Amino acid sequence: MTELVSRSHDQPAGRTFPWIAEGMAFGGDYSPEQWAEEVWVEDVALMQRAGVNSVNLGVFSWGLLEVADGVFEWGWLDRILDLLHEGGIGVNLSTPTAAPPIWLLQTHPEIATVDENGVRTGQGGRLAWSPSSATFRRYALRMVRALAERYRDHPALRLWHVSNEIGNENSRCYSDETAVAWRAWLEAKYTTVDAVNDSWGSAFWGHHYTSFTQIEPPRFARASHNPGLLLDFDRFSSDALLGHYLAEREVLREVTPDIPVTTNFMIMSFTQVDDYGRWAEEVDVVANDHYTISSDPLRHSELSFSADRTRGIAKGDPWLLIEHSTSAVNWQTVNRAKEPGELTRNSLAHIARGADGALFFQWRMSTAGAEQFHSGIVTHAGADSKVFREVEALGAALKNLAPVVGSRVESARVAILFDHDSASAQSFGRMPSTLLTPQDLPKRLHRAFAARHIAVDVVPSTVDLSGYSLVVVPTLYLVSDEAAERIAEFARGGGHVVVSYFSGIVDESSRVREGGYPGAFRDLLQIRTDEFFPLFEDESVELDNGWTADLWTESLELRGATALASYRSGERQGVPALTRASVGTGTATYLASRPDDDAMLQFVDELAELASLPVIADADAGLELVRRVGADASFLFALNHTAGTLTVREGGTDLITGEEHGSTVTVPAGGAVVVMR
Ligand code: GAL
Repeated sequence: MTELVSRSHDQPAGRTFPWIAEGMAFGGDYSPEQWAEEVWVEDVALMQRAGVNSVNLGVFSWGLLEVADGVFEWGWLDRILDLLHEGGIGVNLSTPTAAPPIWLLQTHPEIATVDENGVRTGQGGRLAWSPSSATFRRYALRMVRALAERYRDHPALRLWHVSNEIGNENSRCYSDETAVAWRAWLEAKYTTVDAVNDSWGSAFWGHHYTSFTQIEPPRFARASHNPGLLLDFDRFSSDALLGHYLAEREVLREVTPDIPVTTNFMIMSFTQVDDYGRWAEEVDVVANDHYTISSDPLRHSELSFSADRTRGIAKGDPWLLIEHSTSAVNWQTVNRAKEPGELTRNSLAHIARGADGALFFQWRMSTAGAEQFHSGIVTHAGADSKVFREVEALGAALKNLAPVVGSRVESARVAILFDHDSASAQSFGRMPSTLLTPQDLPKRLHRAFAARHIAVDVVPSTVDLSGYSLVVVPTLYLVSDEAAERIAEFARGGGHVVVSYFSGIVDESSRVREGGYPGAFRDLLQIRTDEFFPLFEDESVELDNGWTADLWTESLELRGATALASYRSGERQGVPALTRASVGTGTATYLASRPDDDAMLQFVDELAELASLPVIADADAGLELVRRVGADASFLFALNHTAGTLTVREGGTDLITGEEHGSTVTVPAGGAVVVMR
């Protein structure tokens, strides 16, 4: 069994847990409470057929376990746990706190979140609780303790799955009880109210506070709130939610010290939880939920970015894809089923990028309730379906991937820096262009590197940069002095840095850095900009190196750097658009506009040469390549997202089929191989 190192700060170093499954974890959310018990027997038999070895159980079942205040009914959960155990299926048992029971919401409506307009959330949904509610906390922890004490020794129990997507529907609360917690958080951070005034620049519109008691959550106002306040409220809200997770975790650790604990993150959701990097310190394994957007033709690239970012948050350790979908979801505008082969490529892409398992939401499609049309493994048509057959084949393939478990994705030489705090700060207040979104450029760059088969890590700006050759800083609007200095130090020591437009603009209080843009990186880049000229939606510009670019231009002046390219069209003709400065033994490049896809590939080619970047393997364009490396083997994942056969020029054993290949492996259209050598 693979050992999983505990990632918690407060744990003695070296604490380990057995991995939650034999080999790759495979399965999904299982809601037996929605079905008659006869169906459970069929479920377990079908799970065995599909190679399922891991289920998330009990996720929304509080109301069916604590049927009235302090009255517990465990029978059904006892029976299904035993049945799953007999069937050889491990259980990630969820504390059911995501969905408070109706009786609790009726007797204590004050536990619910209150929105900006003072409207309290009613019953009928889920996550209708405020993390600052003391009453909710008391009831939740009683439930958690009862559950943990009941199942502490159950042999099916592998992992605690705390609540569900904490912060999804309850990311913000504006109640009076929250206001008290918010003020306490501010007081702990700033000590004096004057320090708050300084940080937020509250002289603006005369919003000067003379006492902490005057500070309120950012409730409904007709004009924008102070961006510094909004950013702090974002951080506070995340800490309040994390506080709830920690409170549950403490109970679980006390009762079952040997069972690992996690909670499912929503790493690509940027509106809910601030800084999963901090949360990651508190879980025993990083577990992430990921859903593709069916209308996005580049959804597999978005998935790759997300998976790399998840690995970055997990500090390179193996992680768990704890939810994704077999096919359609039910919450997009148009919920289209996945194409044949897509669920397999999606699962394998997450695994390639560091996941040691792929679980689906959900096992059996619901017939009632809010998620009736959300796909599952067993569809409304039953197991005689495209999805079930594909899951069955995937389950068989994943059995053969057991040797990959515990291996790590090969170290990349390129880091793309991405911070949630910066992305949040960018979403608050009135910006020079609402067309500029924080994820856009990082994803475009990631896609171009991936197209060239160059491995990339997506990491927070707090990481140690020393192992990288190239550090890319795309639209990193907010940056700390400390991170900016480490990036400069990296260049002085021989590294190559690329900074894009709208980076280094504000400090950690979201206050603009003075002296010209891009404030924190101006000296490193040896340039200075005094005004932005963002482009309108249908505008583009030509550069004199042949590139076409859009979205952004600025009135950049060289202050030591050299222009690699200048605008050839538009109002800024002759103004530098791409610059480079020598810094110590390294370089610092500035990109002042957004290259189109062709230009982005040329840019990546130029950077690859500059920083002597290796490719993952010699392979045809159109393949997604990732290499994981174990103690004595390397595993090359090649996923074909095209309609033609493609080739990898590397031999070895195809782990999925067992076939031996000499010096080349072909990957069928829409298919995947994992070559071990
Ligand atoms: C997730 C959630 C699941 C389910 C799923 C549907 O966000 O954790 O419970 O609702 O979405 O896509």
